[in-house]
Amino acid sequence: MSKKLLRLDRVLSHMKIASRSELKKMARQGRIEVNGEIARNTALKVDPYQDIIEFDGIRIEYQEHFYWMMNKPPGVISATVDKRDETVLDLLDYEDVLFEPFPVGRLDKDTEGLLLLTTDGELSHFLLSPRFAIPKVYEFEARGFLNEDSVLACAQGLTLEDETKVLPAKLEIENFDETEEITSGYLTLTEGKFHQVKRMIAVLGAEVIFLKRISFGSLDLDEELELGDYRELSPQEVEELYKAVKQN
Ligand code: URA
Repeated sequence: MSKKLLRLDRVLSHMKIASRSELKKMARQGRIEVNGEIARNTALKVDPYQDIIEFDGIRIEYQEHFYWMMNKPPGVISATVDKRDETVLDLLDYEDVLFEPFPVGRLDKDTEGLLLLTTDGELSHFLLSPRFAIPKVYEFEARGFLNEDSVLACAQGLTLEDETKVLPAKLEIENFDETEEITSGYLTLTEGKFHQVKRMIAVLGAEVIFLKRISFGSLDLDEELELGDYRELSPQEVEELYKAVKQN
């Protein structure tokens, strides 16, 4: 962890305890302690990871950034604000929204599954950059028949309906339901073009009717999460995500 010293008011306002001016008053009232001593001056420099900082007797655990995994439900959009629709931020607790997280990339409104939310712009940039080719796995059901030719075509790199070329991708076919004429399977992409899974499957002659992201880089969707639920990533999970980009 960093040895960077920060002003006490910066640490506490970052953790959304109060604004800097409010903190100044609160410090004068003796409500803030650092390593067991009342801190009346909020300009005091502290090590946010080592020093024991308490507000009204409650320990404040500093975190520079926040990371959550959500099992996005269908019908909700991957944005921070929208005039018409419910957004993924509307599904977060108010205390978490205060940190101003944003979704890492987008899932379509009707797509469900693993969506990362964070305050870490740098990690988000890395995870979405084509340079790092982070794999994302989608489970799908499609009306129509896909076969070994489809698998080969994906492995070679498809050309979409508007002549856009996409990178080679791994298509795995799980099942073809002959009565319903529905193919189910998995598609692994290392890029994220607009409606990419749906457009790739369309070029192969089928139509996606269900789409769920089940993994993103080193993260698999937590099966304990019901649709609409979310949880914080562990420090190890965050480290693994960073490792994946450092390796590339
Ligand atoms: N590809 C799609 O078509 N939709 C998504 O939501 C994600 C990938």
